[in-house]
Amino acid sequence: MDIQNILDTITADMQAMPDKGQVADYIPQLACVDPNQFGMAVALPDGTVFTAGDANTPFSIQSVSKVFTLTLALGRFGDQLWTRVGREPSGQPFNSILQLEHERGIPRNPFINAGALAVTDAILTGYQPKELLGELLRFVQDCADDDSIVINNAVAHSETLHGDRNMALAHFMAAHGNLENRPELTCGTYFHQCALQMSCAQLARAGRYLTAHPDAPHMVSLQRVRRINALMLTCGHYDASGDFAYRVGLPGKSGVGGAILAIAPGKAAICAWSPGLNDYGNSKLGTRAMERFAHMTGWSVFG
Ligand code: DON
Repeated sequence: MDIQNILDTITADMQAMPDKGQVADYIPQLACVDPNQFGMAVALPDGTVFTAGDANTPFSIQSVSKVFTLTLALGRFGDQLWTRVGREPSGQPFNSILQLEHERGIPRNPFINAGALAVTDAILTGYQPKELLGELLRFVQDCADDDSIVINNAVAHSETLHGDRNMALAHFMAAHGNLENRPELTCGTYFHQCALQMSCAQLARAGRYLTAHPDAPHMVSLQRVRRINALMLTCGHYDASGDFAYRVGLPGKSGVGGAILAIAPGKAAICAWSPGLNDYGNSKLGTRAMERFAHMTGWSVFG
C-alpha cells in the first residue's frame, strides 16, 4: 500500500476545503493559531513515519494527553481507578457540568474533562505537580522515542487564567469526596498536561504502543492496550464518538488544539491535525481526513 500517496492525496483535498471550522477561543493561546494548517502522519510500529502537509509543526495536544495520563493511572492503580471514574460514553459535551451532578461527582469516563481531572488527581497524590509532570513528559518522550518534546508553559498559563469551568468541575468532585488534592493543584497539573506540545509526526510515534505490534515500544500489557483502545473508540470523541466509530472505524482521541490520534491495531498510529473545530470540539478537517484515510486504506477494527 502506498501510504505516502494516500497522505499526499488527502492533504491536497483538505487544503482545498473552504470550511476549516473554528479554532478554540476559550483558551486565548489557541485562539491565535492559524486555522489554515493541516498535517498528517502515519507511524508504523517500527518507528518509520510517513508525513504530509504541516506534519512537523508543533501544536497543543490538549485532550489527547488524556490517553497518556490514563495509561499511567491504570499502571499505578489498575482496576481500582474505576471506583473514581466510569467507562461509559457520555453523550454530553466534553466539559459538561450537568452530568457530573446527576452522577454524584463520579465522571462518566476518563476522557471527558471531569474524568480526566479525576485521573490526573489520582496520579498526582503523593507527588509534587512538577514531579508528576516530569514523569508524564518522560513517559510521552519514551513512547515517541524523542527527548525534544516539551510542555508549552504559555498555553498552560493561558488556560489557567480562563479555567473557571474546569475549576468548577474539580470543586464539584471535591464536594462529593472524589478529589484528593486541592482543586487548583489538580487543575494546574491538568492544564500543563494538556499543554504538551507535539507535531503530527511526534504524536503518531508516541501512539505506537497502542498498536500492540511486537515491533512497537512495549509500554503496557496487551490486555491494557485493548482496554485503552476500547475507551478511545467509545469515548474518545465525546458526544461524537459514535459518529467517529461509524465513519472511521478506528479508536481515536481528539483535542481542542485540533489533533486526532487514531490507532489501527497491529498496523499503525495515525495523527491528523487541523486547528479548526466542529460543533463537538473535534477537529473538523482532522475528522474528515481520518474518514478518508480509513476508506482509502480499508483499515477498520470492524473487519
Ligand atoms: O480542559 C479543557 O477544556 C482543555 N484543556 C482540553 C479539552 C479538549 O481538548 C477537548 N477535546 N476535544
